[in-house]
Amino acid sequence: MTDTLTPVLTEPWGADRSWTREVYEAHGGYAALDKALAMAPDDVIAAVKDSGLRGRGGAGFPTGMKWSFIPQENPNPKYLVVNADESEPGTCKDIPLMMANPHVLVEGVIISSYAIRAKKAFIYIRGEVVHVIRRVQNAVREAYEAGHLGTDIHGSGFDLDIVVHAGAGAYICGEETALLEGLEGRRGQPRLRPPFPAVAGLYASPTVINNVESIASVPSIIGHGADWFASMGTEKSKGMGIFSLSGHVKRPGQYEAPLGITLRELVDLAGGMREGHELKFWTPGGSSTPLLTAEHVDLPLDFESMAGAGTMLGTRALQLFDETVCVVRAVLRWTEFYKHESCGKCTPCREGTWWLVQTLARLEKGQGSEEDLDLLLDQCDNILGRSFCALGDGATSPISSSIKHFRDEYLAHLTHGGCPFDPAASTVWAGSADQQEVTA
Ligand SMILES: Cc1cc2nc3c(=O)[nH]c(=O)nc-3n(C[C@H](O)[C@H](O)[C@H](O)COP(=O)(O)O)c2cc1C
Ligand code: SF4
Repeated sequence: MTDTLTPVLTEPWGADRSWTREVYEAHGGYAALDKALAMAPDDVIAAVKDSGLRGRGGAGFPTGMKWSFIPQENPNPKYLVVNADESEPGTCKDIPLMMANPHVLVEGVIISSYAIRAKKAFIYIRGEVVHVIRRVQNAVREAYEAGHLGTDIHGSGFDLDIVVHAGAGAYICGEETALLEGLEGRRGQPRLRPPFPAVAGLYASPTVINNVESIASVPSIIGHGADWFASMGTEKSKGMGIFSLSGHVKRPGQYEAPLGITLRELVDLAGGMREGHELKFWTPGGSSTPLLTAEHVDLPLDFESMAGAGTMLGTRALQLFDETVCVVRAVLRWTEFYKHESCGKCTPCREGTWWLVQTLARLEKGQGSEEDLDLLLDQCDNILGRSFCALGDGATSPISSSIKHFRDEYLAHLTHGGCPFDPAASTVWAGSADQQEVTA
C-alpha cells in the first residue's frame, strides 16, 4: 500500500475548532496573502498558471488561463464568483472543506480577487446547507475584523468585499451561467454562450467563476510556490485533490492525495471494501461521469487516464458499490434525479429525461423487452450533444456506461420478470420450488 496522502487543504481538519481564524493562522494561514499582495497581480496569475492547477469543479479547465481571459481594459467592475453549489450525487468535498477550513477559501478568494483585480467577490452556497452558510459567513466576519477584508487590506491599497449568497436549492444553479442568473435574482437557467462569463458575466461584467477547491488551492500555491504544487500529480494533471470515497468501503471519507493515485490505493487507505464483499461498479467523479468496474481499479485517477477509459475525473466523487447492488436500480435512481433537476429550458433534456425514467423503470420491473435497451440508447443519443447545457449530457452517462458494462444484468431483469436482486421478486420468477421455500 502506498502512503500517498498529501494533506494540504485538509491538514487542519483534525484540530480543535479548526474553522476559527485563530487556528487557521496558527497553521500558517493568511501568510500567503501578504506574499501575494507584495507581488504584481499578473505575477500571481502567472504563478497559478505555472502551477498547472486545473479547475476542481469537474471540467478541469486551467485556472490561471481562465483568469488571464479577464479583459482588464474593460471599464466595468471585475467579479470573482465562487461556485459552492455542490449538488451532484456523490460529490461531497466542498461542503466538508467549508465546514472544517473556511478560512482557506476566504484567503483564496482574497488572493484570487487581487490577481484578477476584482473588488467584489461572491460565494454562492447551496441553499440547503444552512450550517455551512453560517460557518462561511462567520469566517468572512472574522476576516473583516482582522483587516484581511475591507479597505486597504494589510496596508496594500487593495480593497475587497465578500458577499456570501445562499442559493435556493437547485442542482442546475451549479452550472456557472445558471448560477449567475440566480445571483442576479432570476430563475436559474443556463445562458447562451458566447459571450463567456470572462467577457460578460455577472451584471454583464468580466467575471471569473471557480469551484471552492480551486480557489482554496491558491494560498498553498502562492505560499509554497508553483513548483511545489506542480511536483505533485501527473504530467498534465498536477497537484493534490480531495478524493471523496462513499459507499461500501470500510472507512468512507475525504482522502487528499496527488492526482494520479489509483482507486486500488485509495480503497486500501480506506480499509478495503466492507467485509466479505467485492467492488462491482464505481463512479470516478459523481453520477454524471460514466461508471467503471473492478477492471479499472489500477487506472491513475487523473484527467487524461479517465478520458482514455471513456469517462471523466469530474469531482473525484468515488461512489463504490459492491455485488449486492442492482446497477439498473442505481441508474434509475440517478436518472430520476436528473429528470427532477432538469430546468426545462431545452426540449432534449426536459422531455428526454422523462422518457429515460419511463423506459428504465419498465426495464427495472422486468416489464420491457430487449428492444428497450436499444430504445434507451437511442433516447440517450437524442439528448447527448443536443442539450443546451451539460446536465442533459450528464444524465445519459450512467445509462450508456451501465449498458456497456452490465448489459447482461439488464437482460436478467427481463428473463426473471423483475429485479434479480429483489428477494420478493425472486419468489415470482424463480420457478424453483426450493427457492420459493427459501425466500417465502
Ligand atoms: C448541472 C451542472 C452542475 C454543476 N455544479 C457545479 C457545482 O456544484 N460546483 C462547481 O464548482 N461546478 C459545478 N459545475 C461546473 C461549473 O459549470 C463550472 O465549470 C465550474 O464551477 C468552474 O470552476 P472550476 O474551473 O474551478 O472547476 C456544474 C456544471 C453543470 C453542468
Ligand atoms: S440541458 Fe436540461 S438543465 Fe440544461 S438547459 Fe436544457 S433543460 Fe435545462
